[in-house]
Amino acid sequence: MLAHIAVLALITLKSAYGLDNLKLKGPATIPADASSRLHPALASFSIETAFFQDFFGNTTNPNQLSLNLLSHLKDRTGIAPEIRIGGITADSTYWKPEQNAALVNFVDSTGALHNTTIGPEFWKIIQLLPDSTKITMNLDLHDLDYQGALSMAQATLKGLKRDQLATFEIGNEPDHYLSFTPANYTAIWSKWAKDISTALQIPGPRWQVAATAEDPLWPYGTATANSQLGCASALAAGANKDNIVKYCSEHTYQYSVCDPPRIRVATLPNLVNHTRLAMYLDLWQPRIKTVRQQLGDDSFLIGEYNSVSCSGKDGVSNTFGQALWLLDTTFYAASINVSRLYIHQGGPLALQSSTQLNHGGLSFYDMWYPVQNTNGPIQVFPSYHTYLFIAEALGYSKTLHISNIYPGRQSNGSTITTALGDQSAGQLVVYGFWDESDKTHPAKLALLNMQIWNETMTGQRPATQFDISNHLTSKNASYIVRRLQAPGADVKDGTKVTWAGQTYSGLATAGGLPDGTARGDYKEEHATGGVITVAASEAVLVIQGSDLHDSSSVNASSNSSHSSKNSSELVKGGNFIWGLLGVLLFYGWTMI
Ligand SMILES: *[C@@H]1O[C@H](CO)[C@@H](O)[C@H](O)[C@H]1NC(C)=O
Ligand SMILES: *[C@@H]1O[C@H](CO)[C@@H](O)[C@H](O)[C@H]1NC(C)=O
Ligand SMILES: *[C@@H]1O[C@H](CO)[C@@H](O)[C@H](O)[C@H]1NC(C)=O
Ligand SMILES: *[C@@H]1O[C@H](CO)[C@@H](O)[C@H](O)[C@H]1NC(C)=O
Ligand SMILES: *[C@@H]1O[C@H](CO)[C@@H](O)[C@H](O)[C@H]1NC(C)=O
Ligand SMILES: *[C@@H]1O[C@H](CO)[C@@H](O)[C@H](O)[C@H]1NC(C)=O
Ligand SMILES: *[C@@H]1O[C@H](CO)[C@@H](O)[C@H](O)[C@H]1NC(C)=O
Ligand SMILES: *[C@@H]1O[C@H](CO)[C@@H](O)[C@H](O)[C@H]1NC(C)=O
Ligand SMILES: *[C@@H]1O[C@H](CO)[C@@H](O)[C@H](O)[C@H]1NC(C)=O
Ligand SMILES: *[C@@H]1O[C@H](CO)[C@@H](O)[C@H](O)[C@H]1NC(C)=O
Ligand SMILES: *[C@@H]1O[C@H](CO)[C@@H](O)[C@H](O)[C@H]1NC(C)=O
Repeated sequence: MLAHIAVLALITLKSAYGLDNLKLKGPATIPADASSRLHPALASFSIETAFFQDFFGNTTNPNQLSLNLLSHLKDRTGIAPEIRIGGITADSTYWKPEQNAALVNFVDSTGALHNTTIGPEFWKIIQLLPDSTKITMNLDLHDLDYQGALSMAQATLKGLKRDQLATFEIGNEPDHYLSFTPANYTAIWSKWAKDISTALQIPGPRWQVAATAEDPLWPYGTATANSQLGCASALAAGANKDNIVKYCSEHTYQYSVCDPPRIRVATLPNLVNHTRLAMYLDLWQPRIKTVRQQLGDDSFLIGEYNSVSCSGKDGVSNTFGQALWLLDTTFYAASINVSRLYIHQGGPLALQSSTQLNHGGLSFYDMWYPVQNTNGPIQVFPSYHTYLFIAEALGYSKTLHISNIYPGRQSNGSTITTALGDQSAGQLVVYGFWDESDKTHPAKLALLNMQIWNETMTGQRPATQFDISNHLTSKNASYIVRRLQAPGADVKDGTKVTWAGQTYSGLATAGGLPDGTARGDYKEEHATGGVITVAASEAVLVIQGSDLHDSSSVNASSNSSHSSKNSSELVKGGNFIWGLLGVLLFYGWTMI
């Protein structure tokens, strides 16, 4: 791996909570370990097959909340997030061409879901999604029924628009059933993939291999680790001998409530911890490298993931802490060259584990509840706002690269973490985004203060002054700051969370239902000077240079008539100087 000793920082420790000041040292040029080009659908979705209609409704009863929330993301990048239809229930989902209903779940009297059948109306649900939404369809492997998989693949191709299919997967988490080895998994998988491609005349590579659940065994490269089923072992066993593999996907769930020992570890302070999430994702670095060497820059995906498996944990995965975890996880993964991450949405499955915490309703890690259920009313959770942040960081650029510039990397490519002795840095995180049009300065920066501040705490909320002056295009350069904020990491109420001043969790009318519309005054700061104050449990996006004129930034700020009235907030304690340039840019900009 490239040994890039990243940005060192000047640190002064003052408060008991952590850092008051962090000055990024530079250089401002794009680091040698920066990612390959970021994919516009970096932040995508995996929807559990059995819950697909719960999320999006159907042609007679579309779920407008879900559709609006997806549209906001597409508006910011020009490309809709991708949707993988899959998960455990994909291995018990069957095509029933004679079925009138779009989707039927066979649930017994104990609440256990036995299987799912879909009919022709199912594909019409997909056509409700924003234009350009690409679909990955998860076929059933568990039944070892080739004809069944073929018929579902055929129905999918007929049901989707031309070019709408991203890929097919065969089997969900096959490392959890039939005692598959890399050899006998690959023998079946590659034969099916080839035969279905031939039978349906699928052009080019259209298959996504692995979709495995288990974390990589460590250390990497031992005989035991090499015999674990996953992307690298399936490719080594010949999965791509017929050149049909487009991507390889593995699943990541850092925490779990499937059993009591893991329930104890799935806490909010563990979740909102940069060191822990970076060390976890670092386990994949060797596999990401292996897969990309064989299949290309965009080929390694986290095709299903969330914070806490077995459907999340109340008070952890439905909080603003999850929003911060999601932001850091997505950017950190992108910085180690994961092309896309598909956050899983669905509900608890009764038969997943005999000791699981959750039963019924929708999952505590879902970004929103599209329908009322036993776990709560229709609502938008804090973590949805993170996807707006990510989408605006990407903007319309197709030539953006990310790097984790603080705390940065060790010589072997792993992040510098508190676990390796650097106690000072762990909860402050900085990512830079460079466009190929200017490799000398980042077009954007994401500043994350992961220190936990709870709404329930009293006293002064700690804050850190990030000094980005060494990364500005010039000493006086003007830049924009947009904030992801909440009263604390423990907040579950989405209406208390704002992105750029606005919440997307509000009600359509008093006493009405949430419709996903931006509410509240749009707010961004236009500033110079280079010192930005970021409170504990807060994150900001900084935009500078030519991206100030980038229309993606402009049309992301939907409520521009209001932005002009209230975009000049000064940050308390910050070092903000209103440059003439900033004022000019600001007025020129809002008149567009
Ligand atoms: C990511 O990929 C790029 C291009 O292949 C490479 O130069 C860079 O070193 C990689 N970064 C990491 C952290 O692996
Ligand atoms: C945003 O700007 C881009 C680039 O100019 C444009 O293609 C797109 O249609 C705009 N989107 C909206 C919602 O205005
Ligand atoms: C569409 O959804 C409605 C309400 O959930 C349901 O009653 C109806 O049967 C569904 N239509 C189809 C074709 O599945
Ligand atoms: C679904 O499960 C039920 C109960 O086990 C069974 O009777 C039915 O045949 C199954 N449907 C399909 C399509 O396999
Ligand atoms: C794969 O091989 C293992 C080890 O020989 C065996 O236990 C398992 O049953 C095989 N699985 C299948 C689906 O053939
Ligand atoms: C990098 O080195 C550290 C020890 O210094 C180790 O914990 C980590 O696993 C290594 N990472 C990789 C990707 O080899
Ligand atoms: C984050 O996790 C690391 C590794 O477990 C630990 O050393 C560190 O103290 C944690 N940080 C906080 C703020 O809890
Ligand atoms: C930067 O700002 C200072 C003080 O406002 C001013 O004197 C100087 O001319 C500015 N430089 C540039 C390049 O705009
Ligand atoms: C914040 O609240 C969570 C529970 O919601 C608790 O676990 C944590 O200890 C609290 N405080 C801090 C500083 O993490
Ligand atoms: C713009 O802001 C105003 C005032 O907060 C609000 O009434 C209006 O609904 C907003 N419009 C949009 C499109 O968000
Ligand atoms: C501007 O924002 C401040 C603080 O968020 C708020 O108190 C004030 O009412 C807003 N002003 C306008 C004109 O919307």
